[in-house]
Amino acid sequence: MGPGKNPCNYEVNPIKRVEMRFPDFRRRAMDSLRCERAGEPSEAFYLQNTLLHREESEEGPPRPVGSFGTACGQQVGADIANFRWSWLKQMMGGRNAQMCQLFCGVAGGFSPCHYDPQDNLFAQVRGYKRVLLFHPRHWPRLYPWPVHHPQDRQSRVDFEGPDLASFPRFSELRGCGLEAVLGPGDALRIPPCWWHHVEMLPSPPDGEVVSINFWYPPPSWFYGDLAAGDMAWDKPLFGAKRVLFQRCIEDFIAQAASPAEVPEVLSMCGEQSRLPPPGSHLAEVVQDARAFVATVFPDPAEQRAVWAEVLQGRFLGLAPRGG
Ligand SMILES: [Fe+2]
Repeated sequence: MGPGKNPCNYEVNPIKRVEMRFPDFRRRAMDSLRCERAGEPSEAFYLQNTLLHREESEEGPPRPVGSFGTACGQQVGADIANFRWSWLKQMMGGRNAQMCQLFCGVAGGFSPCHYDPQDNLFAQVRGYKRVLLFHPRHWPRLYPWPVHHPQDRQSRVDFEGPDLASFPRFSELRGCGLEAVLGPGDALRIPPCWWHHVEMLPSPPDGEVVSINFWYPPPSWFYGDLAAGDMAWDKPLFGAKRVLFQRCIEDFIAQAASPAEVPEVLSMCGEQSRLPPPGSHLAEVVQDARAFVATVFPDPAEQRAVWAEVLQGRFLGLAPRGG
């Protein structure tokens, strides 16, 4: 992984991305399912492939990505041709899909809890999935990786064995989530910035689990008029927009200083007594970052809460190893 994708050299979870042909994927996924059923060590396989994509400037439905040249691809292409785009657009509040993805796997595989900035219509084709959903306001209880970590937008907590000593507020999530079990023909809308942990369930007869999703732009009230450079920050700032604002703070500091200096600057911003030496480059960054936050949170107590929330939510026990 190049420094551009991991500028702070953070430790990264051992998830491997491997390219392979679909028949090879299917064989390996079914082998792994057999091993798991026999109680033998197995690796979880999960295919994620973009089928359709549309540039923001383009109108109408998204277009196929790649040639769909193999026998399997031709079948997928024929299925796509039958999508009822007018109905989908209606379901998506009159907006056009930007991307359609295919997900294939077997029981035992999962997507770690994360959020996406787009609206998401998630449709189950074959087999069963369990989806845990959490409102964006639970952000501090889910400890996302920092913006400049390769697993940005993903929770640092292992849902299978949560480390409550490192992530104490995770226990506050009990009773706060929604659970959906999706079977063939079911669809679920996942709004922007909503957390989702997706798990593939045992699925008779053959264990195969297949879904597709459509990502589409959030409603216009969500961002404001971006073309006019006007991101609308509600006051008080809450939920998804609070998450986006906190991301902007991290980006702002990383650009003005460096990604590795973000936690140090956040900590200085939160403590009036701890200021960098006058005239140093960080002194200016701290001043500008405080001014940025003050435009949305005029109350100093709220400002302190925001600094603490970002620092403790994203950087607790995490040390950049370079910059
Ligand atoms: Fe997602």
